[in-house]
Amino acid sequence: MNILVIGGGGREHALVWKIAQSPLVKTIYCAPGNPGTATLAENVAISVDQLDKLLAFAYENKIDLTVVGPEQPLSLGIVDLFKAHGLKVFGPSKDAALIEGSKAFSKDLMHKYGIPTAAYGVFSDLEEAKTFIDRTGAPIVVKADGLAAGKGVIIAETRVEAINAVRDMLSGNSFGSAGSRVVIEEFLTGEEASFLVITDGKNIIPLASAQDHKAIFDGDQGPNTGGMGAYSPAPVVTPAIHEIAMRRVLQPAIDGMAAEGRTYCGVLYAGLMVRDGEVKTLEFNARFGDPECQPLLMRLKSDIVPILLAVADGDLSGIELEWHDKAAVCVVMAAEGYPGEYRKGDEIIGLDQAAKLDDVYVFHAGTMTKEAACVTNGGRVLGVTALGATVKDAISEAYRGVGCITWSGVQYRTDIGRKALGRS
Ligand code: AMP
Ligand code: GLY
Repeated sequence: MNILVIGGGGREHALVWKIAQSPLVKTIYCAPGNPGTATLAENVAISVDQLDKLLAFAYENKIDLTVVGPEQPLSLGIVDLFKAHGLKVFGPSKDAALIEGSKAFSKDLMHKYGIPTAAYGVFSDLEEAKTFIDRTGAPIVVKADGLAAGKGVIIAETRVEAINAVRDMLSGNSFGSAGSRVVIEEFLTGEEASFLVITDGKNIIPLASAQDHKAIFDGDQGPNTGGMGAYSPAPVVTPAIHEIAMRRVLQPAIDGMAAEGRTYCGVLYAGLMVRDGEVKTLEFNARFGDPECQPLLMRLKSDIVPILLAVADGDLSGIELEWHDKAAVCVVMAAEGYPGEYRKGDEIIGLDQAAKLDDVYVFHAGTMTKEAACVTNGGRVLGVTALGATVKDAISEAYRGVGCITWSGVQYRTDIGRKALGRS
């Protein structure tokens, strides 16, 4: 088979890495890919939003299956376009991807189908938003309705901060049209978990549990990022929490989407807040999480290609997933300044050293090749991922990998996975 992976981050490197292990595969292409995917696939210089070019490429190169990594092409309708041309593609349709593309839609869906979530309001008028903020009190959470590359969520500590965030969003200053409506919601406390399932719209298969680390600094301090590290399994997802998440969140979400005429196929990611044996839903994403995908795919024992194909064919019945007993941990190494303006073009030292370690794999995200050197080219640069007998062992291995690598201004958290140790 010929497979096309769309995207160029750590998640897509992990997808390419896992797909490359399948005996069913002849050629893998990755658009646009990165220097990491280039070692396993042929990179194609088409960006993720050039849908017509991607379609033409898939036709010309006899692509048997296209796997869409990021949310943007999903929201633009890449799945609809490819399917309309008779091509197999893994991911939700445009109508179904709205579960991530509009936070207002997603919250209304949760409300309608009784899925537990924070109390909220949707506003496009500042005065109405102020009334809601005054009634709820701070801390309070302000979210741009549309896609904002994981940065459209402001945890406001004060009433004034919340009002300023709403004003910036509604005026289009902070997130353009994505902020023309805002969701304002109650601030929740607890421990987060990333709960991912694959589904054909009817059958639902949970993936292994995982936990992300959103904040830039150790101890969950500082602004939120796209994710600074992840591990699997996550002990916060006990068997009881797993059961609640499936029954009260994922099943009603997927049934609700079908009832709305938006049948959901692909990976559905629920961001959960777990507290005192209860679960509340923070958000839904229409794709694999990044970096959650990296440790999850390292732990997946089954060939991923028949799984992706079954979803693309709309029939997951008969598919079972097998997981390694080992734990996996991914530590993200980021550029100075991230998640704000960040440095680019710094030479990355030590990739060769890290490559010599058993059970460690370095997934590329924001890198590029410049005159035979690998240099930084994004906020999140690398995801150093390791397997270990336990989360503790996987943490040690991942940080052994991190210790091999450096560049000017490198930053990473030193406490990835620590929460799991407190529980076991
Ligand atoms: P979201 O994109 O909606 O998941 O928000 C990104 C991150 O913001 C989440 O992973 C949480 O860390 C935080 N967050 C979102 N909503 C809330 C909330 N209602 N209460 C507390 N933290 C939140
Ligand atoms: N790591 C969080 C996300 O992919 O949205």
